[in-house]
Amino acid sequence: MSMQDDIKAVLVTEQQLKQRVAELGAEISKDYAGKDLLMVSILKGAVVFMADLMREVTIPASIDFMVVSSYGGANTTTTGLVKIIKDLDADLSGKDVLIVEDIMDTGVTLSHLVPMLQMRNPESVRICAVLDKPSRRKVELQPDYVGFQVPDEFVVGYGLDYDEKYRNLPYVGVLKPEVYSQKA
Ligand code: IMP
Ligand code: MG
Repeated sequence: MSMQDDIKAVLVTEQQLKQRVAELGAEISKDYAGKDLLMVSILKGAVVFMADLMREVTIPASIDFMVVSSYGGANTTTTGLVKIIKDLDADLSGKDVLIVEDIMDTGVTLSHLVPMLQMRNPESVRICAVLDKPSRRKVELQPDYVGFQVPDEFVVGYGLDYDEKYRNLPYVGVLKPEVYSQKA
């Protein structure tokens, strides 16, 4: 029994991810040259993207992590609640903060987080999301850097989970409907 058996379709291949993440890394390295770049990743979904992206950034950069929650368990719809479970260790003053996210969906999470980080006196706060689902947006917020736009479907892999599984798939895919119905 392999994870692969639960996947209906592959939306973004491993090769496409590798290529695009390299492009984003190059772009970020150029845009942040001479700045004090702090890459902030939101656990757990963005951990795979962070690990790949930071190695494509060629300028000095520091990293930090935070845990926020807006979704619970197997629930695939947003509750609109954002809670800081684990805060950053870094002092943001003078830093150019780049939030490294797995997916921007409704945008609710980041619309709460960005103003909270801005209050800590950073030079700048921008967003880099490997996936973007613009059709689902509930707030007026766009990522500054996007890997791929995806349709309005629940996706897994490359860090993204369904009920804490499938994060370790090396590509982005859509689950077969029966995977959800078994759970419900
Ligand atoms: P937002 O606040 O709706 O923009 O999304 C917040 C979080 O929900 C994302 O960072 C993901 O962790 C999760 N999420 C949104 N869409 C998906 C999806 O299609 N698959 C897996 N997780 C998702
Ligand atoms: Mg996330």
